[in-house]
This record gives sequence, structure tokens and C-alpha cells, in this order.
Amino acid sequence: EKGGYDHFMLKEIYEQPRAILDTYRGRLLADQKLIKMAGIDEHLDKFVNANRIIIVACGTSWHAGLVAEYIFEDLARIPVEVEYASEFRYRNPVITDKDVLIAISQSGETADTLAAIKLAKENGAFVFGVCNVVGSSIARETNAGAYTHAGPEIGVASTKAFTTQITVLSLIALKLAQEKGSLTDEQFTSFLTELEYIPTKVEVALQSNDAIEKIAEVYKDSPNCLYLGRGYNFPVALEGALKLKEISYIHAEGYPAAEMKHGPIALIDESMPVIVIATNKGHYEKVVSNIQEIKSRKGKIIAVVTEGDVQVKELADHVVEVPETLEALTPLLTTIPLQLLSYHIALMRGCNVDQPRNLAKSVTVE
Ligand code: M6R
Repeated sequence: EKGGYDHFMLKEIYEQPRAILDTYRGRLLADQKLIKMAGIDEHLDKFVNANRIIIVACGTSWHAGLVAEYIFEDLARIPVEVEYASEFRYRNPVITDKDVLIAISQSGETADTLAAIKLAKENGAFVFGVCNVVGSSIARETNAGAYTHAGPEIGVASTKAFTTQITVLSLIALKLAQEKGSLTDEQFTSFLTELEYIPTKVEVALQSNDAIEKIAEVYKDSPNCLYLGRGYNFPVALEGALKLKEISYIHAEGYPAAEMKHGPIALIDESMPVIVIATNKGHYEKVVSNIQEIKSRKGKIIAVVTEGDVQVKELADHVVEVPETLEALTPLLTTIPLQLLSYHIALMRGCNVDQPRNLAKSVTVE
């Protein structure tokens, strides 16, 4: 059942190239310059005329929502708010019939997310679901939706659900961008082409597994760990930290790299590992200077960089390379080494990787 892997989590990490392909198969028609998604096609006016999109989710799905916020605003120029479902439902939010609410949930059974959907519907919003489990409560409760088609995710730590959620949300953003004319033809086409390369590039990113195992050996006994990223990779930093804490029980925090000097930098000394996502697009130079600040306080740097990187390699204690892609798609690649790192560290610490203590696969009570 684990297909030759020691754990479901590792199997699911390695399934990602296939899972992402399954997510866009039949939807991404690059030769026709077309994205076909029934749930969107049938309600295109709702999305295009929306005042804003509200995304609600919990845990890893909330992180996928944060990535989506960057993608939707950047590509489709639609304002987006991302909320923890548990906060949204209880804070008397302003919801109107001009709002579109997107609920993201792997299981489709998360109690708070389900309640947020009901509240949004009562207030006239159009509710769209991004779920993995077919026929789940959230899939049934929403007005329309798109499945991720990731296949069953058994490990409590979410992996392939995250990357396939980002894939679905990217497809939606691209479809809306095309409809709204917010991208040039050339930009749109290059997104489709790059998206088609992602499964192969994830395959390449997975090849750093042995190198990551060696890094895990060095840091497995650290009591703390910091994850930093900017822009599209800020949510990836949060996700990396969540993965580490939930399966290895190491205290980990994710931050936008620039926030470091507003507090967390006080934690840095020679025993603090800092995982920095420093791909060559976006805010590369700024991340490099964040790395310098950590180095001058003797922190240990594990950097996730783009293939062929020179500058960060000189500064970091360890580097892991991922292939180059469009900035908006980098989370699909930079997440991979972070998943593997948490897996190996948890394993070395003797933790139950697939069923961490105190956690359930889906949180069906609030
Ligand atoms: O099934 P859902 O996507 O609604 O679940 C949301 C969270 O409970 C889930 O992502 C949780 O944070 C995972 N254990 C993270 O790995």
C-alpha cells in the first residue's frame, strides 16, 4: 500500500510530479491557449465581476491560500483576502453578494472551513471549493468547485495536497487573467508552458533527497529552527515550518524575511539553523542581504536556491538547488526540499512520521 516507500508521507512527496500532472490534465490545453475548468466556465461572471475574493482554509490549505493571494493579485488583478476559517466565521465579517469565497480543503471535512462556507452563503456570496476528497462535505456544500485530483493523502502531514492546490489555484488565476486581459498573450502562453514543465522540474527537485538527508543529520537535534522567504515564497516558509513542527516536534517558525529585524533576529546565534528560500527571481538581492545579516550573527544558513546560483552559495552553510521557473510558480518547487528535510529529521528523531502525536488527518470538530 505504501508502494515500496517506508512511509505514506515519503510516497506522497514522491507522487507530486504525477499528482500535479493529474491536476492540470484535461484542463491546461497549451496548444489551444486555453484553460478548461467547468466549475469556473459556468460561473465566470461571478469571478470577473467580484469585488474581491475571500479565501478561507486552515493549516497547510491556508498556506496554499496565501500563495494564491499573490497569484490572483499579480496575474488577474483581483483583490484577495486570506483568512483562517476559524477566525473568519466568528469575527462578524462583512460579506456581500459581490464577494466570491474560495474554500480550500484537502479532506473537505474541516469543521471551521465548512462553517465559514455556510456563513458566506447565508450572506449571499458565491462559494467555490478546492477539495481533494471527492464528494466530501465541503465539495457538496459549495456552489461550484474544482477537485485537485491528487489521489488519497494518508500521511497526516499534507504534502501533495499543497502543491496540487497551488496548481488548481494557478489555473483559476490564469483563466481569470485571460478573461480580464490582465496578462499579455506572451505572458499567458509562457505561464502555460512553464506549468507544463513543473512535474519534470519537481522530479529534478526530488533528486536532492540524499543531500537533504545529510543536512538533516547535522540539524536533527536543534531545538529551534527559523524559515524565511519573501513574496511568493513567504507562505512556503510558513509551510516549511509547519511541516517540521508537526512531524519532528522541533519548534519552528516561518517569517517574511524582512520581518526578521523586527524581532526574530534576536534569536539568532551559532546554534540557530535558518532555512532561507532565495530563488533568483523577485527579491533575490534583498534576501541575500537578509542572509548576510544572519551570517554576521553566526546563524547557520540552509538555502534553497535556483540552479546555477553563485552569490548565496558563497554565504550559506548548505545549499539545495531547484530548477528555474517563473517566479509565481517557484512555490511548487521550493516546497519540495522543505518537505524532505522535515521528513528526514522526523525519521532520525524516531518520530511517527505518518501519524504525529496529538494530530488527526482532518479536524472535524472545532
Ligand atoms: O483537510 P484540510 O485541508 O481542510 O485540512 C487543513 C489542516 O487541518 C491541515 O492542512 C493540517 O494543517 C495538516 N496536518 C498540515 O500538514
